[in-house]
Amino acid sequence: ISLQGRNTFRVPAHAAMMADVRRGDALAELYDFAMLREGPVMVLGEGSNLLFAGDFPGVVICLTMAEIRILEDDGQHALVRADAGVGWNDLVGWTLARGLCGLENMALIPGTVGACPIQNIGAYGVEVGEFIETVEAFQRDTGQIKRLAKADCEFSYRDSLFKQQLDRWVITAVELRLPRQRELKLDYAGVREELAAMGVDTPRAVHVAEAISRLRTRKLPNPAILGNAGSFFKNPIVPAAQALALKDRHAALPVYPGDADDTRKISAAWMIEQAGWKGFRDGDAGIAAQHALVLVNHGNATGAQLLSLAHRVADSVQENFGVALEPEPRLIGARWADR
Ligand code: EPU
Repeated sequence: ISLQGRNTFRVPAHAAMMADVRRGDALAELYDFAMLREGPVMVLGEGSNLLFAGDFPGVVICLTMAEIRILEDDGQHALVRADAGVGWNDLVGWTLARGLCGLENMALIPGTVGACPIQNIGAYGVEVGEFIETVEAFQRDTGQIKRLAKADCEFSYRDSLFKQQLDRWVITAVELRLPRQRELKLDYAGVREELAAMGVDTPRAVHVAEAISRLRTRKLPNPAILGNAGSFFKNPIVPAAQALALKDRHAALPVYPGDADDTRKISAAWMIEQAGWKGFRDGDAGIAAQHALVLVNHGNATGAQLLSLAHRVADSVQENFGVALEPEPRLIGARWADR
């Protein structure tokens, strides 16, 4: 089965078998088949955060259940349950239309609800982990559906328990507690300017979603036109002392808070651009001209060619800045450390 139309890099790849699952509780039945129980299995949503460096030697599962409903509403907060197959941005719109806020800064992030906890998606200063109350997931080794409370999900920057144990879980639904009122987060660079350009001076959550959608549309290449998976590298988290030393030498390097007091997150895009890669192209593998963090397929690049370019970029950042870059999307059929 060809997966070329099912990954936003649009690279060629194949899987041995594909199964559409319409109900979470059907997973247990599927796992009666030895191939699913023991062999490699992957869940494919929109394919917007992965790179096929080769074929997938097992079964691809597509979860198609896509219901959203409110489980509880006390007038101030609502508990919203969304099935794994719901499009993330559809959930953002659905909640905003019902007067619920919190997800507005994450408008237009590609992918499905089922994928959102895996790498704890985030943008413009907000991460989804903040709102998740429960993740419902099928546990492959026990064959049971489990409900994991937020504290058990181990959310951190672009990381979670599910990412650490990718083979073990199939996320079937996510429950988020969303407020009706909340202070808007407008401090991320460009957000206030965009609201001003829209002529909005007392913004509400819907305006923020719109401003961020406009920013994203301008900054990130549209995968429908140019194959890509958003940021290809994570912003590295380094010791505070290292960030300070780098800042001494490169005053313009953007530095953000890290995951602890003594760490900082630094801009991978900035370092890649300084190293001269922005807009670079080798055959059909390239680095986006709009955004240095985005690896792009100009047409017929293979996953292996894209991965090889990514390694060259990372090597050059290592040489120039002494900082190791790691890929942000999931690699299928290769490991970043092997080459
Ligand atoms: N920059 C450059 N050159 C570039 C692009 C950016 O120097 O080509 C510098 C600029 O100084 C800019 C700064 O980097 O101000 C930050 O850029 P941007 O706001 O685009 O954010 P980012 O750090 O590059 C992260 C996320 C994005 C998310 C944005 C906004 C990661 C790996 N990426 O990118 O997420 O949309 O912040 O919150 O954390 C994704 O994960 O796929 C993704 C697109």
